[in-house]
Amino acid sequence: MIGSATIRPAVQADVSSFEHWLSADAENSWQVKDFVRAIETDNDSLLVVCADATPLSGVVSQPTPASVAGFILTQRVLDEVTILYLSIDPRYRRQGLARQLVQALQVAVGRQTIMLEVRQSNEPARALYQQCGFIQVGERVNYYRSTQSPSGREAALLLNWQVGE
Ligand SMILES: CC(C)(COP(=O)(O)OP(=O)(O)OC[C@H]1O[C@@H](n2cnc3c(N)ncnc32)[C@H](O)[C@@H]1OP(=O)(O)O)[C@@H](O)C(=O)NCCC(=O)NCCS
Repeated sequence: MIGSATIRPAVQADVSSFEHWLSADAENSWQVKDFVRAIETDNDSLLVVCADATPLSGVVSQPTPASVAGFILTQRVLDEVTILYLSIDPRYRRQGLARQLVQALQVAVGRQTIMLEVRQSNEPARALYQQCGFIQVGERVNYYRSTQSPSGREAALLLNWQVGE
């Protein structure tokens, strides 16, 4: 269970965590350089959640010290912020860490709009965003490749959030 969670901007010392992370995620299309750019530039942002926690699975005899348990990568263009990538280590899921990251972003963006695309089949992410007040504003039909759909494609749902929604 999560003892406590800390949310902070990513720093260079986190880059090795991201290398490990991306190599373990076969579906991801991001590269470490994208994360480095987010650390170094003003328009991209990368928040990490560090969990002082014991993973739910795995061979662990001692509580794991604070480590990167998840992150949210965003890009700002004018007054719109887009969530590019949000991921929580599978060992730390269903403990509210993604919700805390999204809520931290919502506080940070103030009155700017937050946008994102999510696979139609991604029920966990859709439930998370709905809980955080996002609404669907569009759909891109057959946008993603899909191994689960008979057509081999699935839709991207466009979600958006603004203060007060
Ligand atoms: C989607 C994801 C980020 C959720 O992370 P998480 O830390 O487990 O989510 P939280 O514990 O903060 O859950 C918040 C809410 O989201 C919903 N949710 C999260 N996981 C869910 C699941 N497996 N099934 C159904 N609802 C789920 C629930 O409404 C949950 O609230 P509740 O626990 O009070 O019921 C995580 O599953 C993940 O990293 N998935 C792979 C990457 C991904 O799909 N990213 C999103 C791309 S847009």
